[in-house]
Amino acid sequence: MLRTVTATRYVTPLREGGSLPGIVEADDDGLYVLKFRGAGQGPKALAAEIVAGELARDLGLPIPELVLIDLDPALGAAEPDPEIQELIAASEGINLGVDFLPGSLPYNPAQPPDPELAANIVWLDSLVTNVDRTPRNPNLLRWHSNLYLIDHGAALYAFHAPDPLDRARGTFPAIRDHVLLGEAGSIVDADTRLAGKADPAPAAALVPEAWADGLPYAEFLAKRLEGPREWVDEAERAREAR
Ligand SMILES: Nc1ncnc2c1ncn2[C@@H]1O[C@H](COP(=O)(O)OP(=O)(O)OP(=O)(O)O)[C@@H](O)[C@H]1O
Ligand SMILES: [Mg+2]
Repeated sequence: MLRTVTATRYVTPLREGGSLPGIVEADDDGLYVLKFRGAGQGPKALAAEIVAGELARDLGLPIPELVLIDLDPALGAAEPDPEIQELIAASEGINLGVDFLPGSLPYNPAQPPDPELAANIVWLDSLVTNVDRTPRNPNLLRWHSNLYLIDHGAALYAFHAPDPLDRARGTFPAIRDHVLLGEAGSIVDADTRLAGKADPAPAAALVPEAWADGLPYAEFLAKRLEGPREWVDEAERAREAR
């Protein structure tokens, strides 16, 4: 189970994010980046954050804690921006929170992760079809000298179209734009390290029932994990082409 906290104060919008995430304080005195259920991408983007993010964590990849945040729309009363007020009003109830990493720095290509970690990240993003880890938008933070993965809302995009399971076995050409491809060691070796350990079911089970989504995320990922995994060879070819 993800922890559930209650937002006690809306602190400020995070202007960088496309989905207008905000920073909130919660009843455990923590600060969280709140991803609104009522944002344009909808609850499926929040479900993708949980499924991809918690699978990454299970595989030992570094990601900040994810929590569920109960939001009372009254917290938006003092917010002057009508767009944000609307977002808060549309997101009453359960939203997603990401532990806020204060003072974290954007990804610096001059300080890349070691080749094994980079390959593990490329492998994960190929598995969950994450299109948002590019040089323009790396969605990697550096905090206390360690790298953290954030923002998996664009993963599992097949679920935004009909019949996602029919598309599960497909390749993932967008991997050629991955920010860590040039740093990564062998993706085939990453597959050997990770494929046997990857169990999408526990991560998928963390999507809250309140979002009434019921989509087959675990089945989709289980299908991608069945051999032969063409997407692994595809990522390896993209790496070798660098
Ligand atoms: N946990 C965090 N701690 C500190 N800063 C964060 C955290 N999460 C996000 N940020 C900052 O906020 C920015 C936007 O967050 P995020 O990428 O999750 O939002 P988004 O709306 O999905 O963005 P986009 O679609 O534009 O990539 C990040 O690029 C980063 O600078
Ligand atoms: Mg982002």
